[in-house]
Amino acid sequence: MALKFTRLKELDQKNLLKLENLEKIIFKKAALNRYHLPVIARYGYLFALFLEDNIVGEASFIRQEKNVFLVGLWIVAERRGKGLGSLLMSESIAYLKKSGFETVELTVEKDNTSAIKLYEKIGFRKTEDLPSFYGPSQSRLLFRANLLEY
Ligand SMILES: CC(C)(COP(=O)(O)OP(=O)(O)OC[C@H]1O[C@@H](n2cnc3c(N)ncnc32)[C@H](O)[C@@H]1OP(=O)(O)O)[C@@H](O)C(=O)NCCC(=O)NCCS
Repeated sequence: MALKFTRLKELDQKNLLKLENLEKIIFKKAALNRYHLPVIARYGYLFALFLEDNIVGEASFIRQEKNVFLVGLWIVAERRGKGLGSLLMSESIAYLKKSGFETVELTVEKDNTSAIKLYEKIGFRKTEDLPSFYGPSQSRLLFRANLLEY
């Protein structure tokens, strides 16, 4: 089956609705929606992984000088555990490094073991605890990767 990694710079109606729907299923209240996704596509980076014609994963980033911040990463539930998340992140990082960025940062919930393992496997290291990043008791861990080491 053909896997394709691609940067979506603009979203047609079909991809916009598909991404919005998958975001909602995966992240619920924390989902990106039709008002965020086109902004990220145009002014940040929106990467997608297609399997045949189906979107099976998304990685979205905003930028800040030489740093990019990962806003979201997901693989559809039925395709997890097969290396697609690692592939999507490695391809995204290669693209961002080529574009001149020097660091990538992200936050993750401390109990999200599969995401933390993935991030550590591809070279991210925990740099800070953010005890109330999303409000009281809504802590996150801040991770960073140095693209100059890739
Ligand atoms: C996090 C996520 C993107 C990982 O995608 P994936 O395609 O399953 O990841 P991979 O198959 O590439 O696995 C990468 C590593 O994660 C770890 N991992 C994957 N699934 C795991 C699981 N169920 N339990 C524990 N570790 C797991 C493994 O260490 C794996 O590396 P290895 O196979 O070399 O040991 C996916 O689980 C997901 O979409 N989760 C819901 C959304 C989310 O939490 N996103 C991150 C927000 S910060």
